[in-house]
Amino acid sequence: MPNERNATSCRRGDSLEMKKITLAFDVYGTLMDTAGVTRALEQYAGDRAAAFSDLWRQKQLEYSFRRGLMQNYQSFSVCTRNALDYTCAIFRVDISKSEKDALMAEYRTLPVFPDVVEGLGSLRSSGVRMFAFSNGHADDVCSLLHHNKIDTYFKDVISVDEIRSFKPNPAVYSHFLRRSGAHGSEAWLISGNPFDVMGAISAGMRAAWVQRSPDMVFDPWGIEPTVTVSGIAGLQDAIAGN
Ligand code: LAC
Repeated sequence: MPNERNATSCRRGDSLEMKKITLAFDVYGTLMDTAGVTRALEQYAGDRAAAFSDLWRQKQLEYSFRRGLMQNYQSFSVCTRNALDYTCAIFRVDISKSEKDALMAEYRTLPVFPDVVEGLGSLRSSGVRMFAFSNGHADDVCSLLHHNKIDTYFKDVISVDEIRSFKPNPAVYSHFLRRSGAHGSEAWLISGNPFDVMGAISAGMRAAWVQRSPDMVFDPWGIEPTVTVSGIAGLQDAIAGN
């Protein structure tokens, strides 16, 4: 059992190490709760609103994967809109263009998960460099961060739109390293999305999986996250120990 003095000097050492670290925060599903649209969906989908929200999100990601593979890039908001049209058709929700526009606007004001503000605050005190790194266009990500008053925690927003592809193309993780000036072994992706974590590990970064619910399963491919945490608050200790 370390005594308190040892534990303190150990923490101080960790903090020096932390200064070399660069964190790439995924946005949707990590900082922002994409289920935040559920309440707005209730008027159209009733008690199926949560299932609607899940399928909308799944299709949004599927469309980004497919566009990446097809090399037929359109911005993430186009994937989101096409996925909304698809989900409305599946759920037989017949709504007007302006109602769909209003649902898209909900996506630009998604709420942060409850642990985010405090977690980012303590990471900032440790001296790490933090970036937002997203499939979303930088304008959309900036307005989301600003809306939730967390924009000041980030040194910059790095969007896949800058190279017109999507996660988990290895080129987007290389783009992050180039733009941030970080080295692979000192750069961590922080993501609630297993496919993103696996993409980053596969591209030579370290990665923390933020397991946003105990029911979430990490894909059993044999590519494991460097660390798993249940929220942003646990990140600092997990990273310092690795
Ligand atoms: C993002 C996706 C993965 O924010 O949701 O990049």
